[in-house]
Amino acid sequence: MIFRDELDRLEAEHDGLTVHRLHTDVDGLLDLADLDTICHDWRGRDTYACGPAPMLDAITEHYEAEGAAERLHLERFSLELGGDGGEGGTITFRTSGKSIDADGATTVLEAGEEAGVGMPFGCRMGICHTCTLTLVSGKVRDLRNGDEYDSPNEPVQTCVTAAVGDCTLDI
Ligand code: FES
Repeated sequence: MIFRDELDRLEAEHDGLTVHRLHTDVDGLLDLADLDTICHDWRGRDTYACGPAPMLDAITEHYEAEGAAERLHLERFSLELGGDGGEGGTITFRTSGKSIDADGATTVLEAGEEAGVGMPFGCRMGICHTCTLTLVSGKVRDLRNGDEYDSPNEPVQTCVTAAVGDCTLDI
């Protein structure tokens, strides 16, 4: 947890500050409906949010529906997948026994989600490595820079790679 010590110190020093910790690996994702419980007057407070686009989109939708959008401040970061796409191919997810045909612009992560595989992910932009899986066979291409990976047992970041022909990943 980044800034854990600093947050603990600030919470100890300021009576008006309450830090709610939610670790998605054990607690799951935040259900926005729980905001009323976590901070009953959230609609009247400024909210600052930063994270993956789907999360920020969900927050925006919720705040707009609740008439609180003017108090919401977002920081969006985006990823330029400017590299050449892969050729595409059939991506097989070995352990889950699922496979799907994906084009060269579709990331392995997106393909896995489309196939119904419980894909791990965090930032979805090549920063956190939460999405890293082991390549069993085949080849993938990094859509950021065109680097290719085809060594068995190679760790690959599924959120920024696409299939170059048929490939298999260990999940
Ligand atoms: S989800 Fe963060 S690097 Fe892929």
